Amino acid sequence: MPHKHPMEARKHVKSWHGRLTAQADSATEALLASLDVDAALWRYDIAGSLAHAQMLREEGLLTAADLAKIRRGLRAMEKSIAAGRLAMPVELEDIHMVIEAELVRRVGDAGRKLHTGRSRNDQIALDLRLWARDAADDLTAGIVTLQKAFIALAKARGDVIFPTYTHLQRAWPVVLGHALLAYVEMLQRDAERLADARKRINVCPLGAGAVAGTTLPIDRARTAELLGFPQFSRNSIDAVSDRDFLAELCFACSMLAVHLSRWAEDWIIYSSGEFGLLELHDAFCTSSSMMPQKKNADTLELIRGKSAGCIAQLTGLLTLIKALPLAYNRDLQDDKRFAFEAVGMMKQVLAVAPGIVRTVTIKPPDLADGYLDATALAEYLVGKGVPFRTAHGIVGKIVAQAERQDLALADLPIETLQKHSKKIGTDVYRHLGAKNVVKRYRPDGAGGAKQLALQLRHWKRLLG
Ligand code: ARG
Repeated sequence: MPHKHPMEARKHVKSWHGRLTAQADSATEALLASLDVDAALWRYDIAGSLAHAQMLREEGLLTAADLAKIRRGLRAMEKSIAAGRLAMPVELEDIHMVIEAELVRRVGDAGRKLHTGRSRNDQIALDLRLWARDAADDLTAGIVTLQKAFIALAKARGDVIFPTYTHLQRAWPVVLGHALLAYVEMLQRDAERLADARKRINVCPLGAGAVAGTTLPIDRARTAELLGFPQFSRNSIDAVSDRDFLAELCFACSMLAVHLSRWAEDWIIYSSGEFGLLELHDAFCTSSSMMPQKKNADTLELIRGKSAGCIAQLTGLLTLIKALPLAYNRDLQDDKRFAFEAVGMMKQVLAVAPGIVRTVTIKPPDLADGYLDATALAEYLVGKGVPFRTAHGIVGKIVAQAERQDLALADLPIETLQKHSKKIGTDVYRHLGAKNVVKRYRPDGAGGAKQLALQLRHWKRLLG
């Protein structure tokens, strides 16, 4: 988007030329300007102005002819900006002034009436809320797409027996679908967080003016309605200075980023030669400029890395806000950089992640190692009346012996097992081995096929 037209400098008279006579030099103008960032808000700015103008007309603050000119001017400008044909001179500072100046240039005095009963302070709060509302919706759609990719994989390869880890050491076996749906749960909370943040985003600040409203008879309910807000802000001071809604959006992005980072970390590890649990599609990997054998999970590493940037945006925004006196302060001009960056990163990641999931190859793991059935053996003994703590000790010794002989528990002869406990019978072999363990999971939410089917039914109901 073109916004720097140095040759045009000084052509534009500032809206405050009546009060301030000295001109800022170009370095100062560059500091004051936010056009490089807030130009992205132009659609929202025009939408807000159209609603504001219509309300002004309905309240008798504009003539029908004024409204017609303003509408014509703003609609034509939409086309010019979309085509990249509107000059955005940096000394106009921000997108609001660019649009207003151009409107005045195009339609004259009618354009000079548009800012009646409005300030850039409530205007930018409005633009940001309109943007944040769309951002929340876009992110939610991206999350659902990713959830569906995990669910499809859980259906297709869900019954593969997979190890789980605690402390990155083999723990219990589960059906793979169960492990995949863990990510779907995290993503669901991320979507719910966005939906919750959206409620507080979805409040119209327009009419708060600079800080205390206006003496003109504007209709706040009407502009709110025209812009699809279910309510308008109660307090004008809060309305122009509140950026909680942006911080919440950045937190929702950060939490999402952290979840995606954890998933990326899992799959980076699982795809390594040492784990060998899955293979990523070539399209999501890169090789080395030096080592010809390499297939690196760079996309997942970048997804993991992006979480750092996202968290940085959240802390940056919170730091920007923390010491601001009431109400609007120009520091707030820089809020956009943080929020745009955080949302942009997550949109970028969500555009790639579903493809990684859809194309992954699951490699059925070797389950003989790691004594995934050890706790199940202890629970077998509990079934025979042995107190769990005692059973835990017995199985610990059995595992130590098996390890010395480099055998799986199911490979130990019954005599060896019975040396450790008389309570062990030959039925124990129906309890040993990862497959048998997974068949025996009892409670809801556990890692067996029955529980997976229930979870899949839940997600089908929820996401279709
Ligand atoms: N560009 C400004 C921002 O993003 C708009 C509001 C400016 N208001 C003011 N009183 N200087 O925050």
